Amino acid sequence: MADWVIRRARAVRGRWTPPGDKSISHRAVILGMLAQGRTEIRGFLESDDCLRTVAIARQLGATVERTAEGVWVVEGLGGRDFQEPNDVLDAGNSGTTARLMAGVLASAPIFSVLTGDESLRRRPMRRVVEPLQRMGAHIDGRQNSSRLPLAIRGGDLRAITYQTPVASAQVKSCVLLAGLRACGVTEVIEPTLSRDHTERMLAAFGATIESAIGNHHNLHRVRLRGGQTLTGVALSVPGDFSSAAFWIAAALMLPQSDLIIEGVGVNPTRTGMLEALAGAGVHLRWEQVGESAGEPVATLRVQPQPLQAMRIGGDLIPRLIDEIPILAVLATQAYGITEICDASELRVKESDRLATITEELRKMGARIECLPDGLRIEGPTPLHGAHVQSHGDHRIAMALAIAGLIAEGETRIESVECVQTSFPDFERTLSELVVY
Ligand code: S3P
Repeated sequence: MADWVIRRARAVRGRWTPPGDKSISHRAVILGMLAQGRTEIRGFLESDDCLRTVAIARQLGATVERTAEGVWVVEGLGGRDFQEPNDVLDAGNSGTTARLMAGVLASAPIFSVLTGDESLRRRPMRRVVEPLQRMGAHIDGRQNSSRLPLAIRGGDLRAITYQTPVASAQVKSCVLLAGLRACGVTEVIEPTLSRDHTERMLAAFGATIESAIGNHHNLHRVRLRGGQTLTGVALSVPGDFSSAAFWIAAALMLPQSDLIIEGVGVNPTRTGMLEALAGAGVHLRWEQVGESAGEPVATLRVQPQPLQAMRIGGDLIPRLIDEIPILAVLATQAYGITEICDASELRVKESDRLATITEELRKMGARIECLPDGLRIEGPTPLHGAHVQSHGDHRIAMALAIAGLIAEGETRIESVECVQTSFPDFERTLSELVVY
């Protein structure tokens, strides 16, 4: 098990392009596999999570090849049936792989067993099993079909209208992917809009998909007719805003920083952190420079700025769901009391992030309290180095590394191999951007 030792730094400086977006990389392989013809993906995130999706696509009979660094070609199955996998499908640590693939598997007349690592086997799957069963899939699994491994016998699905209790892009995407091969029009209604990469990419592959924000209660609806043919495309994956978020935070807090982040995806369903910062008096300069795979891409410049306490909750939560650990670190340096609420979904991520970030930041001197559905953080509080744990959670490991850069003394972070799931180059980025 590897550890990191992090020292206090003066700045992060330079021009940097974040690694490819994790959510978009998964979807590019999955839609490429379902499409007719060839899909060429540039800027693919070669991380453990996304490689799990590749491995499962191959077990289902698609040809997926790496032709150069970050360049992957998928020969799609088109309307052809998937190959019935002759072994268990292992999603590793990847919730996106498990939940999106569950939708794909449920749509095909094959038998498959889907599992994951110890962390993923603890995470809730009822949220995808329930709509898929309503569509007609036969699914059985541990704990009354709410935990992996799941045994899935799919095919012959009928379209449903499904109202998701939580705004989850994984659930929405799972139902839409199943709906692609279902009979009729599948509709997903979510309480607030979650990341919409699947919808954007389906359109890029030639599908007709309708999306609307309802007049009442802000409900978001998306509709897709089954039986549509997808056509392979060439696409470039934008940089991952969630990976950039760690360096945005570092540049805001380290006094002599000046960081230019290029090629970063700024899909508004992902950039809630910028909204939270704007509410705290921090306006980051950014310029949209193009579009890729139906996603806006920008250059962002970050320099240190004083930060006021933040209030984060409600509809904003899905737009910054993965940034809450690093926002907690930022909040330790903000003036006043930051309150994060409506974030109980964090309890079922790769770790219970409300508990793990509280436990670890406290070891560094933070004044942070864990609430049932959020966090309360008092700042500004000077942090000091400590011996902390990742809890096997990549975003906790990286948030603690950034905390280590502003802490007095030395911070040791235990078990950091988990960063391979989303940001394998994190350590190299640290050595390239950080000035001591
Ligand atoms: C993701 C959706 C989010 C997010 C995860 C990636 C996706 O999960 O936290 O990192 O790619 O669809 P939920 O759908 O559980 O909110």
